[in-house]
Amino acid sequence: MSPFRLTRTLPEDATDSALRADVLQGLTGSPRTLPPKWFYDARGSELFEEITGLPEYYPTRAEREILLARSGEIAEASGARTLIELGSGSSEKTRHLLDALTGLHTYVPVDVSESALTLAGRALAAERPGLNVHALVDDFTSHMTLPGTPGPRLVAFLGGTIGNLLPAERAAFLASVRAMLAPGDALLLGTDLVKDEKVLVRAYDDAAGVTAAFNKNVLTVINRELGADFDPAAFDHVAVWDAEHEWIEMRLRSRDRQTVKIPALDLAVVFGAGEDLRTEVSAKFRKERVREELDAAGLESARWWTDEEGRFALSLSVAR
Ligand SMILES: C[S@@+](CC[C@H](N)C(=O)[O-])C[C@H]1O[C@@H](n2cnc3c(N)ncnc32)[C@H](O)[C@@H]1O
Repeated sequence: MSPFRLTRTLPEDATDSALRADVLQGLTGSPRTLPPKWFYDARGSELFEEITGLPEYYPTRAEREILLARSGEIAEASGARTLIELGSGSSEKTRHLLDALTGLHTYVPVDVSESALTLAGRALAAERPGLNVHALVDDFTSHMTLPGTPGPRLVAFLGGTIGNLLPAERAAFLASVRAMLAPGDALLLGTDLVKDEKVLVRAYDDAAGVTAAFNKNVLTVINRELGADFDPAAFDHVAVWDAEHEWIEMRLRSRDRQTVKIPALDLAVVFGAGEDLRTEVSAKFRKERVREELDAAGLESARWWTDEEGRFALSLSVAR
C-alpha cells in the first residue's frame, strides 16, 4: 500500500463562513442563485456518482472514451511526475490516466468533498504501490497551497466542471491554474460541447429523477448547516437551455408563494409562486472558445480530442 495523506487546507471555519456568505448573497440577490459547490456533501457526491451512470448523462461515458484512447499520448506529451486533479470526485476516469503515467511520483486530488476524496484516495493508494496520494480538501476557486512535489506537473480538470464557472470566473480560474504551472507544464481540460438542445436538457433532467434529487440536496445542506426550513418537496427541479449564453441552467422552482427561514443568518426569504433559484450553470463549448480562453490565460493549445460522436472534448495545453 502506498502513502495516503489528506490535508484540509481550508481553515476549520472557512466552509461555514463561505456557505453563510454565499447563501446570504445568493438568496437576497435577484435573480436568486447559489454556487454549485454546495451540492457536494457526502450525499451529494453519491448522487453525482449515480448521475454519471444514467443513460441520459453522456459526458462521463464520452470523456472516458477519450481517456481510454488518448491517455498514452497525454502521458507522453506531459511526462508528468505530479498529477494535480481539480474537482476529482471519485477519481474513477482518472484511473486510465494513472495507468498511462508510468513515471508519476505523486497524485494530488483536490475537492471540496472530504468524503469523496477519502474514499477515492484510500482506494487508489491501496491499489497502486509506489504512488504517493496526497489529497487536498480545498476550493479550486480560491488560492490553493499545493505540496512541493517534483515536476513536470500536469493539472487535470475533467467532467466538464469548468462549465460550472461563469465566464469571468473561468478567466480568473484559468489564470490561477497557469500560476500553478512552470513553463512546459500542462493542463488537461474536459469540456462538454454545444449540441442538440433536447440531448442537453435530458442529460440534466433524467427520467429516474436522480438529477432532481441532486439539485434539491443543496436545500438539505442549507437546512442542516444553517438551520433553515426549506421543504425540498415545495420546489420543482428545472433544466433550461440558454441559447444566448450556450449554457444549461439548473434551477429550483418554488411551487407556491412561500417563506423560508434561515435562522443562522437571521433571514427570511420570500419566494413567489413560480420563482426560480438558479443552482448551477453548465456552459457548453466550441473549440474556438476553449482555445481563446486558454490563450488569454497564457496556455497554448497543443492537442484537441473528441469522442467518436463529437459530444465532448479533452484538450491539452501547455504553459508558456
Ligand atoms: C461535476 S463533478 C465532476 C467529478 C469528476 N471530476 C468527474 O469528472 O466525474 C464536480 C466535482 O468538483 C467538486 N467541486 C465543485 N466545486 C468545487 C470547488 N469550488 N472546489 C473544489 N472542488 C469542487 C465536487 O465536489 C465534485 O467532486
